[in-house]
Amino acid sequence: MTEKTFLLAPMAEISHRAVRELVAGFGGCDEYFSEMISAGALMSGGQYESWYLDNAPAPEKFVYQLVSGNVEHLARAASFLEQYECAGVDINMGCSAPSIVRAGGGVQWMSSIDKAGGMIAHVRKGTSRRLSVKLRIGFFDDFDYLASFCKRLEAEGVERITLHPRTAKEKFKRGARWEYVKMLRNHIRIPVAGNGDILSAEEMNRRSFECDAVMIGRLAAQKPWSFALARGLPLPGMIDLEAVAVTFLDMLVKYQPPEFHKSRAQRFFAYFCSNLKWANHVRTLLGRETELTAMRHVLERFFRENPEERYVSGGR
Ligand SMILES: Cc1cc2nc3c(=O)[nH]c(=O)nc-3n(C[C@H](O)[C@H](O)[C@H](O)COP(=O)(O)O)c2cc1C
Repeated sequence: MTEKTFLLAPMAEISHRAVRELVAGFGGCDEYFSEMISAGALMSGGQYESWYLDNAPAPEKFVYQLVSGNVEHLARAASFLEQYECAGVDINMGCSAPSIVRAGGGVQWMSSIDKAGGMIAHVRKGTSRRLSVKLRIGFFDDFDYLASFCKRLEAEGVERITLHPRTAKEKFKRGARWEYVKMLRNHIRIPVAGNGDILSAEEMNRRSFECDAVMIGRLAAQKPWSFALARGLPLPGMIDLEAVAVTFLDMLVKYQPPEFHKSRAQRFFAYFCSNLKWANHVRTLLGRETELTAMRHVLERFFRENPEERYVSGGR
């Protein structure tokens, strides 16, 4: 690990192999979190599980993130993952999507210290991997509760916490309360990764002094070269956006099942298009297409007609 530790966030429909390959192509990051993986689906041998289990291109830096409201499912899935190379197993206690919360998973675990502690104790018994948790502040803006919650997780064997410092209800509203990351670090002994609203490589570096690791989400989809920039790795003077987009589409074909292509391409381009002056226009054009080849044609045509949009400075 470098002194500064930069992590690719778990993001459903984004943190899959194609995006990891893009990041790796620019020099990589310290750890790649998976998309959240349903522990129940994993254990019942869901049809897409082999795609979720793919830990390339850097298995030793890969972190499997599990989501479920069911203790048994989480414990069994964590122990099932023993056979796969990875840097660790992470439990999602931050997702506030209604379907996940209703099933008792994601941030719903934060409603009870005892329940979450009991679950972690059970999961801990079945895995030798580094066990981590990604969470939010909780249901209320109450730092003391968050600190007690995290202390209990630590006592039960969690080895790192990633804090996305917003409450459950806030989703992406108001700014992330980074001061809570610093405060939490003073309350627990295990490392604390901070996450939320980082918009540039400079900010990645600045935040790295406030926590033990910095986790990047949406910025990684918009500018997959941000890790390289933050780590001071050599980058081309100008980034060819068309080449990055086309490489992404190629990787998607290679590494994801056809049923996933459309939604994953649209999810990625929602962020990637923010590099363009005509972002909404291009998003709309891409949104009309269902096939990746058609999306490729849209992009090729756009860059042919707007050559000034094709390159951005590697430092931007
Ligand atoms: C499309 C999308 C999907 C996400 N999926 C997950 C997920 O599967 N697991 C998780 O813990 N957080 C998930 N998140 C939250 C991110 O990991 C991260 O906490 C959030 O985006 C804030 O970081 P950012 O401001 O750097 O994007 C998701 C976020 C986005 C935008």
